[in-house]
Amino acid sequence: MTTSAQAGARPAPPTTRSGAPLSLDGVTFRYPSRRRAGVGVGPLTLDVPAGEFLCVVGPSGSGKSTLLSLLAGFLRPRSGQITLGGEVVRGPHPRLTLVQQEAALFPWLTVAGNVGFGLRGLNRAERAARVTDTLRQVGLAGFESRRPHELSGGQRQRVALARALAIQPGLLLLDEPFSALDHATRTALADELLALWWQHKVTVVFVTHQLEEALHLGQRVVALRGGQVALDAPARSVSLEDLRRTLEDEG
Ligand SMILES: Nc1ncnc2c1ncn2[C@@H]1O[C@H](COP(=O)(O)OP(=O)(O)OP(=O)(O)O)[C@@H](O)[C@H]1O
Ligand SMILES: [Mg+2]
Repeated sequence: MTTSAQAGARPAPPTTRSGAPLSLDGVTFRYPSRRRAGVGVGPLTLDVPAGEFLCVVGPSGSGKSTLLSLLAGFLRPRSGQITLGGEVVRGPHPRLTLVQQEAALFPWLTVAGNVGFGLRGLNRAERAARVTDTLRQVGLAGFESRRPHELSGGQRQRVALARALAIQPGLLLLDEPFSALDHATRTALADELLALWWQHKVTVVFVTHQLEEALHLGQRVVALRGGQVALDAPARSVSLEDLRRTLEDEG
């Protein structure tokens, strides 16, 4: 069983280390368009309990990234509402964080600067301790003073993950975070992510194209098709074939 090295000696504070429940109630969104009603998602109704690891799959253009942008508060629903920990999401929220396909690191900051970026509320010593601890958790101890261009693609994604985890989020949103990586790195990072999720008890929404990855990582899988939920089931009860068939129906 994986727990943090210090967990035995000093239990982690439960409020900062626990995931927040997420709820979507009749959420719709349309991109502005001159054509017909425009493309978008919804209506979507989903409840994600605190600490759940939810994987979202679906063909290209099915609305996965749009859904994450809505959850992150970067887009506002046209109707319906999203709540995180009982609070309506009206914009970017301090308890949630989004990791994208290409690690959007600040090239002029060191690894430590990137990971510590969201920690302005902490004093210098606390921030340094949090940065060191989080980098250790993602296997990058000793990389503090490197710059992003001195890292491999996998290491850059690890830094992005560390930056996300450092703020001790209630909700971690991941949009195909490993898709630019080779198979071995991807598998290793996916397993590290599972260990970190276990340790932090954060609520996770993980978007991937890879159905195998969704079934391996998720406790629950949601398949989107044309901006709508085509399947929503515990990962344990879904086979790869079911998932393929669901997504192939009507393309
Ligand atoms: N900024 C935008 N303006 C207009 N339409 C957009 C915009 N972003 C996305 N769309 C459209 O909305 C739909 C959903 O796009 P979205 O990016 O959410 O899909 P996705 O499932 O993430 O696809 P992929 O797997 O290729 O990343 C698509 O039809 C897309 O063309
Ligand atoms: Mg996308």
